[in-house]
Amino acid sequence: MERHSPILQLIALLFLLHHLLSHNLASTTIDLKPDKSSLLAFKSRITDDSFDTTLGKNWTTKTSVCNWIGVTCGSHHRRVIALEISYMSLEGTIPPHIGNLSFLVYLNITGNHFHGDLPKELVHLSQLRVVDFSNNGFAGDLPKELAHLHRLRVVDFSSNNFAGELPRTWFGNMTDLEELHLNLNGFSGMITLSLGYRYFYGLIALTCMT
Ligand SMILES: *[C@@H]1O[C@H](CO)[C@@H](O)[C@H](O)[C@H]1NC(C)=O
Ligand SMILES: *[C@@H]1O[C@H](CO)[C@@H](O)[C@H](O)[C@H]1NC(C)=O
Ligand SMILES: *[C@@H]1O[C@H](CO)[C@@H](O)[C@H](O)[C@H]1NC(C)=O
Ligand SMILES: *[C@@H]1O[C@H](CO)[C@@H](O)[C@H](O)[C@H]1NC(C)=O
Repeated sequence: MERHSPILQLIALLFLLHHLLSHNLASTTIDLKPDKSSLLAFKSRITDDSFDTTLGKNWTTKTSVCNWIGVTCGSHHRRVIALEISYMSLEGTIPPHIGNLSFLVYLNITGNHFHGDLPKELVHLSQLRVVDFSNNGFAGDLPKELAHLHRLRVVDFSSNNFAGELPRTWFGNMTDLEELHLNLNGFSGMITLSLGYRYFYGLIALTCMT
């Protein structure tokens, strides 16, 4: 009989699994290129001169994104998990490339002068739990695609120029939602109607007065 013993077969299988897994991990974890190119696209849309003293000289291709100011990478997979660039006097628009930061959990750009519409590509940030776009100059309707970001826990869009009526289903699937701030915008309609009853259970803060 040429058959190997079950133990040997098991060991061979474990080796194979280990090889496959580590190969897989290596190829997905070291690849920071999508993160780098989306953040560089983000930087290229910043038009205010004062950023030269903050992001301009710091977000360079020579260093890893994980060392960039305002950027945090996951300790394990080394992909960008948080972007916090609040109160930096940044002015500009948000490019669709932001949707490529697919591991992003925390996004905070409060207290800047960002303007324009929000790109619908934000919907690709499926891990996103906290988004703070407050105190900027964003305008237009909220992209209805955002309704699919059902992991969101904290949403702050206050103090912008957002307008239009919130789609009824907007917050319908955000079952983890704890804080929702929409005040100081130009929204119309009954915003509370777009929040289904059951979603109030988890909600601890809601501000939507105009
Ligand atoms: C960018 O800023 C970070 C945090 O302040 C700092 O650790 C890093 O050395 C800076 N990188 C460059 C190239 O200036
Ligand atoms: C990132 O997103 C943009 C726009 O959504 C897209 O054109 C580009 O191919 C994407 N990929 C990378 C790696 O930047
Ligand atoms: C965003 O950053 C500012 C400044 O650090 C902080 O005060 C605020 O609480 C942050 N927002 C969220 C939702 O964490
Ligand atoms: C909410 O979830 C349901 C079930 O998963 C899905 O069919 C529906 O399209 C979702 N609605 C929105 C607005 O994302």
